[in-house]
Amino acid sequence: MARTATVFGGSGFIGRYVVKGLAEAGWVVRVAVRHPAAALFLKPMGDVGQITPVAANLRDDASVTAAVAGVDSVFNLVGILYQSRRQRFAAVHGEGAGRVAAAAAAAGVGRLIHVSAIGADPASRAAYGRSKAAGEQAVLARFPTATIIRPSIVFGPEDDFFNRFARLAQLLPALPLIGGGKTRFQPVYVGDVAAAMVAANERPAAAGKTYELGGPRIYTFKELLELLLQQIQRDRLLLPVPWGIARLQAAFLELAPVPALTRDQVRLLEVDNVVAPNAAGLADLGITPTAAEIILPTYLDRFRPHGYYSRTEGA
Ligand SMILES: NC(=O)c1ccc[n+]([C@@H]2O[C@H](COP(=O)([O-])OP(=O)(O)OC[C@H]3O[C@@H](n4cnc5c(N)ncnc54)[C@H](OP(=O)(O)O)[C@@H]3O)[C@@H](O)[C@H]2O)c1
Repeated sequence: MARTATVFGGSGFIGRYVVKGLAEAGWVVRVAVRHPAAALFLKPMGDVGQITPVAANLRDDASVTAAVAGVDSVFNLVGILYQSRRQRFAAVHGEGAGRVAAAAAAAGVGRLIHVSAIGADPASRAAYGRSKAAGEQAVLARFPTATIIRPSIVFGPEDDFFNRFARLAQLLPALPLIGGGKTRFQPVYVGDVAAAMVAANERPAAAGKTYELGGPRIYTFKELLELLLQQIQRDRLLLPVPWGIARLQAAFLELAPVPALTRDQVRLLEVDNVVAPNAAGLADLGITPTAAEIILPTYLDRFRPHGYYSRTEGA
């Protein structure tokens, strides 16, 4: 009989690659999200009846319990980058993660793969980082054999980082180097993150372990923007914005319903986001990280100035 999994957050940027990977490996997948209609695009990734969106909210006990009933594995990829009225960091990353773990344990689920983030730290200056740490603790207290996955910044066709700055570069003559652009990142390909999660689910040795996922290279924020500008063939001024000014700008920007920047995100940007020296990582799950330079041209070409044809298009 086919094995079954519930993927909370399966319609999101990373979640869709996990759903695809599981379907390709023959799993029957339940995609648990608040808006199942927005997850229907996933169905063609599997055979008829293999992928089913269901309504579930991490803030609601009954829907989480129903979503995990009878499955072999549970994946939790639910996360938010800013808080809104009901979607609070503590409720989603902390209590919600604990709720999934408790429901999975009560239902006798075999494996739980939980996505946290590099920077999860009870002492983080950012509420995001503290809530991710609270989530990890809540998960392990209720489901000690859970695997925790902590990615650095994730890139791929639907990512937030490169697409957002590419859009900005289309509109503006300059891009902001927040805090001078010295913060270090280790961008990791979404396909590698999903493959790591699928592998962790299959490997008994991954139970109870934490993995930090980063790509093959570390870049400063400035180097990432330079890489982006090179990919989209645009010259833009890189304008250093001191931390204090960035915080002030964020205080205004965070008033928007979908904020471009929040003060909490500025606090996150103050700390390097790279894999810790002794952390288990992609290699321990049998995955060779893919370079950003290989993947970025596959989805950033469309931001190049009109009239530019890439070598493949021109061939
Ligand atoms: N993207 C990155 O660079 C990155 C880096 C490090 C860590 N992470 C972590 O990786 C995970 C996935 O990130 P992502 O970028 O794929 O996020 P995303 O694209 O924003 O997707 C979030 C998913 O969660 C669902 N969701 C949101 N609130 C929910 C709730 N209350 N109950 C149930 N489902 C809910 C959303 O669907 P509905 O809106 O329909 O509910 C969506 O499917 C998150 O935990 C994130 O913190 C991401």
